[in-house]
Amino acid sequence: MAKTKTAFFCQNCGAQSPKWLGKCPSCSAWNTFVEEIVGDNSTQSWSDESAKTHRSKAVRLDDIPIKSEMRIRTGDQELDRVLGGGLVPGSLVLLGGEPGIGKSTLMLQVALDLESAIVLYVSGEESQSQIKMRAQRIGRRSNSLCILTETDLNLIFDQIKTIKPSVLIIDSIQTVYSSAVESVSGSISQVRHCTGELMKFAKKTNIPVFLIGHITKDGALAGPKILEHMVDTVIQFEGDRHLSYRILRTTKNRFGSTSELGIYEMHNVGLRQVSNPSEILISQRKDGLSGIAIGASIEGNRPLLIEIQSLVSPATYGTPQRSSTGFDSRRLNMLLAVLEKRGGFRLGLQDVFLNIAGGLRIEDPAIDLAVAVSVISSLEEMPIPKKSCFAAEVGLGGEIRAVNRIESRIMEAEKLGFEQIFISEYNLKGLSIKTNKIKIKPNSALDMVLSDIFK
Ligand code: TYD
Ligand code: MG
Repeated sequence: MAKTKTAFFCQNCGAQSPKWLGKCPSCSAWNTFVEEIVGDNSTQSWSDESAKTHRSKAVRLDDIPIKSEMRIRTGDQELDRVLGGGLVPGSLVLLGGEPGIGKSTLMLQVALDLESAIVLYVSGEESQSQIKMRAQRIGRRSNSLCILTETDLNLIFDQIKTIKPSVLIIDSIQTVYSSAVESVSGSISQVRHCTGELMKFAKKTNIPVFLIGHITKDGALAGPKILEHMVDTVIQFEGDRHLSYRILRTTKNRFGSTSELGIYEMHNVGLRQVSNPSEILISQRKDGLSGIAIGASIEGNRPLLIEIQSLVSPATYGTPQRSSTGFDSRRLNMLLAVLEKRGGFRLGLQDVFLNIAGGLRIEDPAIDLAVAVSVISSLEEMPIPKKSCFAAEVGLGGEIRAVNRIESRIMEAEKLGFEQIFISEYNLKGLSIKTNKIKIKPNSALDMVLSDIFK
């Protein structure tokens, strides 16, 4: 009997080695090598068959025809926007997220909404009746949706040939396996091989494919990093499982920007799109509470007013604690240092806790000013005047710096009934909008803003 051939694979980057290694030479991760069986690739795959009939040849860039309507609208506006304006035919989209966050629910809803197209939903995790029950819970019906519970990739391809779907959904990539690779499903070589096969399938047939992927404890997509390199688009579904909000964001997109954001709310009848997030994110505001400031941020193309809450209290034990949720903690430390050095506030012996309401994570530097103001508001126990919001970056010298797309931020604040917005005076140049109700307050330094608010 022939000896089974094995090799070691790095679970982090997918590097292969004939023997076990403590440290991966390719990605420098420790203890990531795991032994897997490598089989011969004699089994027929999707690509072998079509390769006989299809031969590719080089074409000049100018001669490549562009089809005008190249996007498939999924019917879900949040998802369409995150994908960059709809689903691109022949694209491979990876949807990642923690267990229980709602990946299967989201994909099932999309499948039910795509009524004009035949959708094949392949599940390796749930039975057909479980999926049927979920569809009933969502309360929608579709006669163009087919459910297949199968994990063998070759059998999935057989079904595709008979059903001829226009969209394929695989739930999840970690459960499918191909007999061409001898290791167990979910292992590096299986995931890599199956993704490769599905990629070839998508490109050859122009059928878009959604892959659902699991996430590891550290928040990375389970499987090799190459999985992310192989697919066209990586979208992450995240949120606090105890809160009902879910955020969809792109971390890679070959067909659009990666800064788009989709917001959903989980109900007992499925996910609902949130089209006016600002109103929800700041609705629970109690006026007169210190430590709360509203920042006008922009996520992707969307202005978003967010509530920043801070709590500053004297440190009871030696080293003061600094903790922030939804905001970069190094940036918080920088702002605290600026307030201490330039503003003369004694924050060195205070615990500082910062939280962005709604479980959002904001990277936009334009909320710096709101963060700084909310910290001082809590320190001094003085509430920020009602209907005020902030949109500016704070520099190391305590200066207020200009931010991009200030017009959309001001318009959003006005739309939501704010009465004053603090911005940088450098943003005034070229500002050409007419505001009726909102007062624009340009400033050049942090202490000017603070003395204006807490007079
Ligand atoms: P699910 O889509 O199974 O998550 P994933 O595929 O990411 O593991 O959804 C899981 C959670 O969503 C589950 O705990 C129940 C909840 N849920 C609702 O609250 N309302 C609903 O209508 C549905 C379908 C699910
Ligand atoms: Mg699931």
